[in-house]
Amino acid sequence: MLDQNQINQLHEIALAMVAPGKGILAADESTGTIKKRFDAVGVESTEENRRAYRQMLFTTPGIEEFISGVILYDETIRQTASDGTSFVKFLQSKNILPGIKVDTGTEDFNGSEVEKITKGLEDLPQRLKEYYGLGARFAKWRAVITIKAEQLPTSECILENALRLAQYAKDCQQAGLVPIVEPEVLMDGNHTIERCAVVTLETLKQVFRQLKEKEVILSALILKPNMVISAKQCANQATFEEVAQWTLKIFNQVIPSEVPGIAFLSGGQSDAQATENLNEINKIIGSPWRMSFSYGRALQAPALKVWSGQAENFAAAQAAFYKRAKLNSLARNGAYSQAMETAGGSVELISQD
Ligand code: 13P
Repeated sequence: MLDQNQINQLHEIALAMVAPGKGILAADESTGTIKKRFDAVGVESTEENRRAYRQMLFTTPGIEEFISGVILYDETIRQTASDGTSFVKFLQSKNILPGIKVDTGTEDFNGSEVEKITKGLEDLPQRLKEYYGLGARFAKWRAVITIKAEQLPTSECILENALRLAQYAKDCQQAGLVPIVEPEVLMDGNHTIERCAVVTLETLKQVFRQLKEKEVILSALILKPNMVISAKQCANQATFEEVAQWTLKIFNQVIPSEVPGIAFLSGGQSDAQATENLNEINKIIGSPWRMSFSYGRALQAPALKVWSGQAENFAAAQAAFYKRAKLNSLARNGAYSQAMETAGGSVELISQD
């Protein structure tokens, strides 16, 4: 059992993760995933290239104005910048919280070739202890829910993923880390926004049922959900305004007001689309939660492309990353506009929430 002091400390970290005008950089791609991302820009996935790439992101000047925390991968939390400073110490020196991905990926659920459950609970308490010692103050666990035809997802797969998310969250809080609880309903396929709404509602209901069952402290976690959105191949794409309205409609039915913050994943949206949707969500006022971002691809894509493994592109890649972080910071206030995307467009920070 946590005492009130420990609960307060976790709550303060959770609030800092979704501090006004700031969001989280997800830079926790596993070695397999980063290889795919590097392959796309023709960069070999060596340990040194992965280190150099993450150094480029983390050392972007001024990023601490917009970035509250960075989710690291096991390899990265142990790495150092070229000057020998550990990444953890460097981030701390910029008042950026280090976090860590602690799930160990997915496996097939119940013999299904489509449905997945997330692994990594067996030795989790020991690993959390080590990560806390290395400086991590929050963690992430991602569950994936697939929509396919009328049959999927099954309620059994949703339940098993929710049970594991809840156990992970419990273990994190016991170890002094704020859990990011990430149940991602995938946007792959051709389903409509209405179908995404139904499945997101069922998933979040089960997640909060299991969190309560395990007595996880809701004021000491961050929820990282998908937006309620049309699937990528859906012929009838919802507008940004519809995404915002559907997302809040579902959230208001199921997310308790004690949850301090929601940090969306980008889930395969383009960088501008993810920013635009976040902006529309934040234009709707009156939600009890801070509505922020914890993007991977939507923050990194332009920077990765510009960098392409070449040291001489370092500064230009940092400028691309800075721009995305700044635009998403504006979107937290509903203060972003598409005109800011154009090369000559202003990306000045005009207000903070
Ligand atoms: P994306 O924003 O690319 O979906 O990544 C976020 C994340 O952390 C996935 O677990």
